[in-house]
Order: sequence, then structure tokens, then C-alpha cells
Amino acid sequence: MNTIYKKTDADNIDRKVIEEAGRIIRSGGLVAFPTETVYGLGGDALSPSSSEKIYKAKGRPSDNPLIVHIAEFDSIYRIASDIPPAAEELAKKYWPGPLTIILKKTLIVPDETTGGLQTVAVRFPSHPVARELIKASGGYIAAPSANISGKPSPTTGQHVLVDMDGRIDMIIDSGPCEIGLESTIIDLSTDVPMMLRPGYVNEKMLEEVIGSVEKDPAVFGDVNEDIKPKAPGMKYRHYAPKGTLAIVSGDTQNVVSYIRKKTDIKTEGKKTAVLACTENVGMYPGADLVIDIGDTDNEEKIASGLYDSLRRCDAENIDEIYSEEFDTPKLGQAIMNRLIKAAGHNIIKV
Ligand code: TXA
Ligand code: MG
Repeated sequence: MNTIYKKTDADNIDRKVIEEAGRIIRSGGLVAFPTETVYGLGGDALSPSSSEKIYKAKGRPSDNPLIVHIAEFDSIYRIASDIPPAAEELAKKYWPGPLTIILKKTLIVPDETTGGLQTVAVRFPSHPVARELIKASGGYIAAPSANISGKPSPTTGQHVLVDMDGRIDMIIDSGPCEIGLESTIIDLSTDVPMMLRPGYVNEKMLEEVIGSVEKDPAVFGDVNEDIKPKAPGMKYRHYAPKGTLAIVSGDTQNVVSYIRKKTDIKTEGKKTAVLACTENVGMYPGADLVIDIGDTDNEEKIASGLYDSLRRCDAENIDEIYSEEFDTPKLGQAIMNRLIKAAGHNIIKV
């Protein structure tokens, strides 16, 4: 398949690009597009065969449900039922934006889209290109992140091209995503609201609007292979770079000296990389690649560059990656959730 690659500015949208992409989705094809979180791989959410195509293009297990993206609040009534007041309150405050809400589904949503579940994940993104595309495509786009299953989510059009060239009909490139981590997921399909995936809308921001929320213990607790996460996708080893990744945790001085020792050892044919905050980038002269992940007090920058850093390690064929810990106040929970998954829970305490 020949993949069409088109660029458009987010503030000066090229209507022709949107119309072409909308036509593709309406006729059952797939288009990757930018959102404020990560790039999505979109198909018609109400078409079983489009959803099947998405799973195939990503190499994703079909028991892992897709998020349905809408471009106006009222679209929710066709796809979800028993919508509780909490959903309306959260939507009022954080939509359009990086929050996904799980609700009971209506019959119009095919099982192929929800991985056989009786619930549907709904998201109203704020990115202008995403919103225009959803409208041009009939109002409902199913879209997982536009990466090959298991790889870090794409945050630029070029990341998508690396993974999806020849597998989908079209890619729309509008530059880097602002947030860089996938949306927060909250389940409101049961009596007790439960956070299933941390993201830019953090626990405190949710609780400010709807009071106390529970957190899925399989995602937020210690590793325990016996409990299954409620968001099926959270069980897979995700976001993973090709090399091994270890997170080094402890006092800054101990962390720096441990990583320095490891990267000073030169092994024939082995390349090492370090993900370091700006303050520490000069501390690892022995590493083959040191990535400046940003200032510790600029958590937005750390979040938005994280997946690109992991992909850079792949592009440079790094065998061993060491990362400092980025436990920042607002986004730390989301950043560390992704990093720990990428590391397959390999945390070295020093
Ligand atoms: O920011 C985002 O949410 C991005 C952009 C493209 O919008 N999308 C995204 O989709 O991250 P994906 O497919 O990579 O992750 C969706 C997650 C998966 O872990 C999936 O299991 C979970 O949402 N999910 C979807 N529907 C669900 C449902 N009905 N119940 C529980 N979890 C669900
Ligand atoms: Mg994903």
C-alpha cells in the first residue's frame, strides 16, 4: 500500500488535506493524525471492518479495545448510555482535552471497536486538526496510538512514518504533540470512579471535580502478575525501546555515580545511553549517547520528549539505556508509569 504523507499547520488548516482524509475514513480506510497527546491511528469507529484493519496495521491483539474520538459533546449520546453526572462535570471542565471516559456502550458501537467489552472509551481531543478530521469523517473515529504494538507512542509525524509506512492510507503531520503522553483514562461505567491510566489530567484534577477516585491497583500498585488491569492495554509491555532500559532510583549523588560507573565500562560492540535531566547531562562522559530530557522543574518538557528519547535510542542502536528518575509533582505519576513500563519494571535502587 502506498501511504500518502501530508503536512498541515494546526492554526492554518489545509481544508483539502482534511477533506481527503475524511473521505478515506468514510470509505473504510485508515488515517494517522495528530492529537494534543500522541498521534492516533484513525478509522471509522462504527465500522467493524475499519476496527479490524486498525488491529492488523498495529499488530495489536484484538481483545484490546479502541478509544472512540468525538468532536462535539452531544455525539456522546449515540455511543454511550447511562451517562452519570460525573461524566458531564468532567467533560465540562476538561473537554476538549486529554481525558478519556469509559461508559456503558450502545448497540451502535461494534464489538470489534470495544474488544468485545460492553463499555466504550470516549475522548474529545482539543487538537484542531483532530477535531476537523473527526467532523469530516462522520463524527466518530476509533484511534489507538499510531505505533506498532509494543513500541513507544508516536509524538511526531516522522515517528508515525517509521512505524506505519505502507500499512495505512494516509498520515497527517502537524508537528510535535504538545503533551506527549496518552490521555488519562477514568472509568465511570461502575458506581465508583476509577482511574485506569495516569495522564496530563492528574488525580488531584479529577478529584477537584468529582471527589475521591479509586486507582486501578494493577496499574498504580506494586507489580503483581496475578491482578489484571481494567484497561486491557495496560497489561502489555509497552512503550519499549529495543535495548534494555534500567531506571536508577535513589539520592541524586548515588544515582549519578552508579550510572557513571556503568557507562564508563567499555564493552566491545555494546552501546550505552543515559536519559538525564539538564542539570546532570555533563556527568556521563563514558556514555555513547546522553539525552537531555529537560530541567527537573519543567515537567511538561520531560513528558513531551520522553517517547522521542526512547525512539532516538532505537535509531542509534543502543544496547543499554540508563534513566534517572523523574518523579515530578504534577506529571510525575504519568511520566514514571510510562518509563517503568518501558523498562519492564527494571528499577535499580541505589
Ligand atoms: O491519548 C490517547 O488516549 C491516544 C490518542 C490517539 O487519543 N490514544 C491511545 O489509545 O492512547 P491506545 O489504544 O493506545 O490506548 C487505549 C487504552 C488501552 O489501554 C485500552 O485497553 C484502554 O484504553 N481502553 C479502551 N477502551 C476501554 C474500555 N472500554 N475499558 C477499559 N479500557 C479501555
Ligand atoms: Mg497505545
